Amino acid sequence: MGFLMTTQKNNSALNKAATLGVCYYPEHWDRAKWQGDAEQMREVGITLVRLAEFSWALLEPEAGKYDWQWLDDSIETLANEGLSIILGTPTATPPKWLIDTYPEILPVGIDGQVKKFGSRRHYCFSSEVYRQHCQRIVTEMANRYGEHPAVVAWQTDNEYDCHDTAVSYSDAALKAFQLWLANKYADITALNKAWGNVFWSMTYPSFAAIELPNQTVTEANPAHWMDFRRFTSDQVVSFNREQTEIIRLATAARAEKADITHNFMGRIFGFDHFDVGNDIDIPSWDSYPLGFLEDRSDHDRAFRDKFYRAGDPDFQALHHDLYRAVGDGRWGVMEQQPGPVNWAPYNPAPRAGMVRLWSWEAVAHGAEFVSYFRWRQAPFAQEQMHAGLLLPNSEPSPYLPEIQQFAKELQQVSQTDIDFFATSRETGSVAIVFDYPSAWAWEIQPQGQAFDYFALVFDVYRACRSLGLSVDFISADATLAQYNRYKMVFAPGLFTVTEEQQAIFAETTACCVLGPRFGSKTKDFSIPESLPPNLSESLLDVKVQQVESLSPDTVLPLADCDAEYDYEYGLQYWREYVTVGSQATVTQVLADGSAAVIEQQNIRYLTGWPDETMLNKLIKTLAGEQGLKTLELPEGIRVRQLGSYQLWINYSDDNYEIDSAGAELIVGDSLLMASGVTLLKI
Ligand code: GAL
Repeated sequence: MGFLMTTQKNNSALNKAATLGVCYYPEHWDRAKWQGDAEQMREVGITLVRLAEFSWALLEPEAGKYDWQWLDDSIETLANEGLSIILGTPTATPPKWLIDTYPEILPVGIDGQVKKFGSRRHYCFSSEVYRQHCQRIVTEMANRYGEHPAVVAWQTDNEYDCHDTAVSYSDAALKAFQLWLANKYADITALNKAWGNVFWSMTYPSFAAIELPNQTVTEANPAHWMDFRRFTSDQVVSFNREQTEIIRLATAARAEKADITHNFMGRIFGFDHFDVGNDIDIPSWDSYPLGFLEDRSDHDRAFRDKFYRAGDPDFQALHHDLYRAVGDGRWGVMEQQPGPVNWAPYNPAPRAGMVRLWSWEAVAHGAEFVSYFRWRQAPFAQEQMHAGLLLPNSEPSPYLPEIQQFAKELQQVSQTDIDFFATSRETGSVAIVFDYPSAWAWEIQPQGQAFDYFALVFDVYRACRSLGLSVDFISADATLAQYNRYKMVFAPGLFTVTEEQQAIFAETTACCVLGPRFGSKTKDFSIPESLPPNLSESLLDVKVQQVESLSPDTVLPLADCDAEYDYEYGLQYWREYVTVGSQATVTQVLADGSAAVIEQQNIRYLTGWPDETMLNKLIKTLAGEQGLKTLELPEGIRVRQLGSYQLWINYSDDNYEIDSAGAELIVGDSLLMASGVTLLKI
């Protein structure tokens, strides 16, 4: 199709080819099927095929003995049908012979037990011997295919940290951690002071004496954990970078650049995705809406039962927006759920139309490609119960026609509305700061079981979406120019505040909504001497004197709850008792008379975690003050604004009438049916 290329300036081979993709495992099938598969992919409208990310044991059946023939042939078969390839490095699955030779490659769990061979991701990021073997196989692969015209992009490994695999408590991790600490602190006295090791006689005599923070009698020092989490993230980043450097070298001579991607997962925080994002060209992620609803959602059963065939209306969008921010605006869906999956507690079939809806939704958030997992359902091994686009007997799955419809629609839109496909990192009207170290900090020290960083960010995200606001994410080191791009920036739960951020808050034109738990630690994981939120009084004349965490059943009601509600609403999970100085104004109080929301110039401070009603009303009011137009959308109806386009989608079972007055209908109708998609040009 190639329509995306006009919006890209960077001579990438991938975005000249990309639109619809599929994950394909030729090694699972008899060769007699390969040609027919390639033809059928082309006919369906697929242009991009991801290959080989779990194939190490086939590529190198014995140490140093390579077999490239099958991959050569399969690439040729696909390329001859005009399909482009994303080649995966096979390092998520070290082969048995390698593990038997070097058992120290295996990761060690928090319980000190070695995790065994027999599934995948069975390696420790700190194993030097594993890194050498990864560099070797990636070099061989990149040298062989780096200049192949059909290989337009590379995927490193597969889903870092999926199955909780970023962290490992191996001897290799211990040695590498000690070195990392020595580099960071130079002298052991500095570490002891930073961590506060005078407490409980934890003083270390040397870096070599430091252990990993697992398996202690009771909780280990949070500063110890925090550095271990930072170290763990750095290990993932450097592991990935070793591969990207090899691939860049091997592809440097190409006329068209071969992009590098990694496929991130949903609700995964074991490493800082912004740091990995710096080393790749185009982040991607694996979107399994029904699996996530059952497996990774905080919603109660009633909500999940309502959306069990559609997915959480905001979970996919949040990740689309987050991973767009992790790169420079280019991103894609590497694995899109194509039918029932096998790995969640319950695995229902998507409602008719949802696979098409999810695909459209991704494109409306700027995806350059949507690739389905997988081509044909495997009749064997772990994922035999996971749908593909074809049944195990090669007949089409019930969802294949939806994908064909989507392919046709995209093609039609691309002929007249090329602008719709412009990619940019900044397309929303409000921004939320997302910070991986804050996720680590509150995992280490939740203080109350309900305090979860992602859940807090998600609540803010969902409230914005339900008001029809399109959201961008920015990192904690976003620049003043980035802040000024928005009328409102939210920074919920940001655990530490830097001098640079203070300068930005002082200068930005954006209304900054901070808290709860903002700036409540130093970077060394101590309570700041001037008390949280650790901002100068001229910015925010507030001091947190005491905090409390609350069980999920407790709500601290606002003093002025609207009578139109038959329940009280206010703060939940977390509350801060604050003193408010003369420069700040309390704008909302709790029924007990204490401050709930505080205002000072362009800063708004939340002293707790607002429940859904309070949050929606508050954001609506603040957005109104900033001149942002809001809507009131039912929980299954969402709209994404992209320049002069609006994509409306319906996750609910009910029809919804869109106010499309004055707009041109590009796809769909103003009556948005269940699973419906409507694209408007305003
Ligand atoms: C992903 C993974 C794929 C496949 C898929 C099944 O997490 O990358 O290899 O296992 O899940 O849904």
